[in-house]
Amino acid sequence: MTQLETYISENENRFLEDLKGWLRIPSISTLPEHAGDIRRAAEYAAEQLRFIGFEQVQLIETQNHPLVYGEWLQAPGKPTVLVYGHYDVQPVDPVELWESPPFEPTIRGDNLYCRGACDDKGQTMLVFKALESLMTVNGALPINVRVLIEGEEEAGGESIDRYVRTYPERLKCDAAFICDTHMPSKQIPALINGLRGIIYTEVEAHGAKRDLHSGAYGGVAPNPLHALALIIAGLKDAEGHIHIPGLYDKVREGTETEKAFWRDDPLHMNEALREEMGVSELSGEKEYPPLERIWARPTLEVHGIVGGFTGEGAKTVIPAVGKAKISLRLPPDLKSDEVFTLFEKHVKEIAPKDVKVTVHKVHGGEAVIVPVDTPPMQAAASALKEVFGREPVFIREGGSIPIAALFYEILNAPVVMMGFGLPDDNLHAPNEKYSLSQFYKGIRTVTRFLQKMGE
Ligand code: BES
Ligand code: MN
Ligand code: MN
Repeated sequence: MTQLETYISENENRFLEDLKGWLRIPSISTLPEHAGDIRRAAEYAAEQLRFIGFEQVQLIETQNHPLVYGEWLQAPGKPTVLVYGHYDVQPVDPVELWESPPFEPTIRGDNLYCRGACDDKGQTMLVFKALESLMTVNGALPINVRVLIEGEEEAGGESIDRYVRTYPERLKCDAAFICDTHMPSKQIPALINGLRGIIYTEVEAHGAKRDLHSGAYGGVAPNPLHALALIIAGLKDAEGHIHIPGLYDKVREGTETEKAFWRDDPLHMNEALREEMGVSELSGEKEYPPLERIWARPTLEVHGIVGGFTGEGAKTVIPAVGKAKISLRLPPDLKSDEVFTLFEKHVKEIAPKDVKVTVHKVHGGEAVIVPVDTPPMQAAASALKEVFGREPVFIREGGSIPIAALFYEILNAPVVMMGFGLPDDNLHAPNEKYSLSQFYKGIRTVTRFLQKMGE
């Protein structure tokens, strides 16, 4: 065993305890009442970086949640890697569906259950622990490293967007490394070469000036909830086709290799999708393979509809307002702002004339597609092969990490997206988990990746 391997093996328990401490902080970025927790989670990350021996460790204040920065630039002549992660997490509702409290890290079998266990505290902590191991054993890192952790990823990431655009020279690097993605299974490591963008909206419909008795006014009153239902039905049909004019104009086709992979599904991911969801048939555009549908096609989803009476029993009311949260996932070349304009226009066109409709943009982020033949990507591939015993697959994922496109565009650096999440980690859902073996293998893989970057 090398010294490094010994260090990692001997410290696995403490690594896990450090992760648990971070997980206990309910750093939900989208809920204002958690602002204090957000700050504590940021401080916790800064403390980790100081412990490793990073310099210039600081919380960078923004208009919203702080960024955490640290650097270690004492490897002259070696490349610089910018490490990204996020310390914020998604809300926990419906909380009654959690088998253990959402912010009490709980081990069952090989899994650690907690909000953020995977996304993204678990994945960020494993990178910290790889850095710690290298630094402690060698007294130095094999390359230069900057770390930038954000607390607003799950809420759109506006602050880091502004920071990267304003101070690109502070983030100069030869590669960016994002540990916030998945592998198809424990046996099949993956490098992600594409993600979808997103535009998240709220559509509000206003009817009468106040709630109305449905007997006294039913027949002449506008109904905002019904109006929303008509709007939603007009946006996407039962076959998964979105009816926003112009939306599909710019959709870029996959490469021949990608199209073959999507069509042939060599890793049998379609079946896994059905199992993960517990459905017998997949929804959506039947004329496209499922992998293309989740990775490379635009999609539209309704996330929630608010309004009217939802309590026990019956209340005969015609609500005065209703609101729907609706987002679109966007493959490369569909820009979030342009799509928002198309969306807003179409919603207003199809809205029943008896309600007043407003469309509000909550957040947006761009898709990214990166080349796979760059040296950092090859270093990552070779590290994965060593630790997992198998060449990684290069695949896309359907989720969004808005900063990835920005790193690629503004910092002009190859972006390595290597994560250790698994398809059944329940991201954003009750009982989020992270596999302990993935956590520990992730630490080993990242140490090898950083060493290879220095060779
Ligand atoms: N880690 C995810 C993104 C992700 C999910 C990548 C699944 C690959 C597979 C990230 O934390 C996330 O959830 N992003 C949001 C972005 C949005 C709020 C701007 C998303 O995709 O919904
Ligand atoms: Mn994430
Ligand atoms: Mn997420």
